[in-house]
Amino acid sequence: MKVYFDNAATTPLDEEVFETMKPIMLQTFGNPSSTHAHGREARAKVEYARRTVAELLNTTPSEIFFTSGGTEADNTAINCSVESYDLKHIITTEIEHKAVLETSRRLEAMGKVKVSYVELDHEGHMNMDHLNQLLHGHNGRSLVSIMHANNEIGTLNDIGAVAGLCENYDAIFHSDTVQTMGHFAHDTKNLNCHFLVGAAHKFHGPKGVGFLRVCKTKKIGRFVLGGGQERNHRGGTEYVYGIVGLAKALEIAYRDMHDHERYIRSLKDRMIDGLKDRIPGVAFNGDIRDGHSLYTVLNVSFPPSEDNDMLLFNLDINGISASGGSACNSGAVAGSHVLNGIKADINRQGIRFSFCKYSKPEEVDYVLEKLVEIMQPVTV
Ligand SMILES: Cc1ncc(COP(=O)(O)O)c(C=O)c1O
Repeated sequence: MKVYFDNAATTPLDEEVFETMKPIMLQTFGNPSSTHAHGREARAKVEYARRTVAELLNTTPSEIFFTSGGTEADNTAINCSVESYDLKHIITTEIEHKAVLETSRRLEAMGKVKVSYVELDHEGHMNMDHLNQLLHGHNGRSLVSIMHANNEIGTLNDIGAVAGLCENYDAIFHSDTVQTMGHFAHDTKNLNCHFLVGAAHKFHGPKGVGFLRVCKTKKIGRFVLGGGQERNHRGGTEYVYGIVGLAKALEIAYRDMHDHERYIRSLKDRMIDGLKDRIPGVAFNGDIRDGHSLYTVLNVSFPPSEDNDMLLFNLDINGISASGGSACNSGAVAGSHVLNGIKADINRQGIRFSFCKYSKPEEVDYVLEKLVEIMQPVTV
């Protein structure tokens, strides 16, 4: 049996999405910037997709910028807000995705900003009092970049509460929503977050396309220089069929969200119960409680064992794809900055299993069976 439990790294393309993209790939090949009929047809597809995304997020099309994915959207939100507002302070956490951490650290290394990190507890929750202190302690406007759900451990942040605090200090708020976009109903009218991001491949859309939502009260400059695409902010011919696929994937995700959430949650619970029953000493990294945890992600902390280093490898040879960290670490045993950030026990191996609408209960059972075999000491 082959089992793919690495859906936080990327998800399989939905066939309905593929069917929507296919005619665009084959027939709508015009350049959206061309003014002739072929170009206008492609332009119409891009703008229809933009409208679809905007409606789903309860925002306006002019607030949606298509990008190459989550990384570019995060980089843009941070770089552009620091530049546009001449910000000198970024507040974030040690367990953000590298797209946020590396961008913030580079700005700090260039002497443009100081980066402050909000204290975390051992489950990855932020200390809101400390966030308040950091905002209060800076003389000037700050950029706060706090992810919605952590991609490795699944712990959710209350971004509504963060937005409220940011409002009190007139801070700019960016949330890396890559892991929750398509899995939670983001409603921008009820969330005072200035920058939100999405990556289509995390919700059964194509790879290499994402978006940045910039609240209309905030301005950003040009972030890719070239032609006048994306309302003169991001030059480059649009990835038309990718953009169409992204919008279709998000539409499906919103349409079926409740059913998928219930179903995926049941798989995660099955895995948690099975692990507790069958692996003595098993624990979990992050907060696994409903409502505090991303339902697609389960980070398992295996008890110390000499073979721990081989766990991912052994799963792999049994046909099971899981992850030892974020996608950058899939299949590798590189230390996880997230597990380090929450001070997880270094003698225990953390493995992320992540599920999607195509995952099956029998796959959970197979993984449990194999884990029991792998964890069992060999007797000669
Ligand atoms: C939380 C988070 N942010 C950003 C990214 C980067 O997205 P992309 O791979 O589309 O660039 C990822 C992808 O793993 C992620 O999980």
